[in-house]
Amino acid sequence: MFITFEGIEGSGKSLQIGRAAARLEKRGVPCLLTREPGGTEFGRALRRVLLSPGGGRREPWSELLLYLADRHQHLKEVIGPALERGRVVLCDRYHDATRAYQGAARGIPLDDIERVARLLGVVEPDRTILLDLDPETGLGRARARNSCDPAAAAEGRFEAEEISFHRRVRAAYLDLARRFPGRIEVVDAAGSPDEVSARVRDLLDRWLP
Ligand code: TMP
Repeated sequence: MFITFEGIEGSGKSLQIGRAAARLEKRGVPCLLTREPGGTEFGRALRRVLLSPGGGRREPWSELLLYLADRHQHLKEVIGPALERGRVVLCDRYHDATRAYQGAARGIPLDDIERVARLLGVVEPDRTILLDLDPETGLGRARARNSCDPAAAAEGRFEAEEISFHRRVRAAYLDLARRFPGRIEVVDAAGSPDEVSARVRDLLDRWLP
């Protein structure tokens, strides 16, 4: 079972996926928690390049190809082997993020993205949890975190984008949920972390009884 978590900046994905992994481990379900970009050593180098606020301007296609390079390496080196060993793989962001950010928000046609993804053997996850939140709240949370955490600020490239960018990302995620109704579950990410965890837990209990 390959499960991904998606959502806009500040939607609480990383906290929720960490809790989900801990809970599955406690239930005795062997699982692997990983993320994109940065699930391999090469990917961690790419992550620094992709997310640091400096580093000069980049064309949408340049950015897309780096995200796909990270994904290809991750699938070959980590995700594929873990699934073959029968592990549940929980991945913090994956290909829907490329569709939403590089596709809808940066403007690369989805057909082009899918054509390259197919060449690289990018597979769809079995299930996806989309933590949905309005961008004003999410961005407010993310920027507050960055202002008191230097490590988070060093990855602040996307938080610096204006609100209209994040609105396009959210709308694209909700479109994807309509396009893949059997795979993507929309979870309301408003409320306390415990309230959101309870919603996520109900889904995971249904998928992994
Ligand atoms: P995060 O790991 O803190 O969520 O940050 C990853 C950032 O990278 C986030 O702003 C979304 C962005 N991203 C893309 O633009 N395309 C992608 O394919 C992925 C995986 C992430």
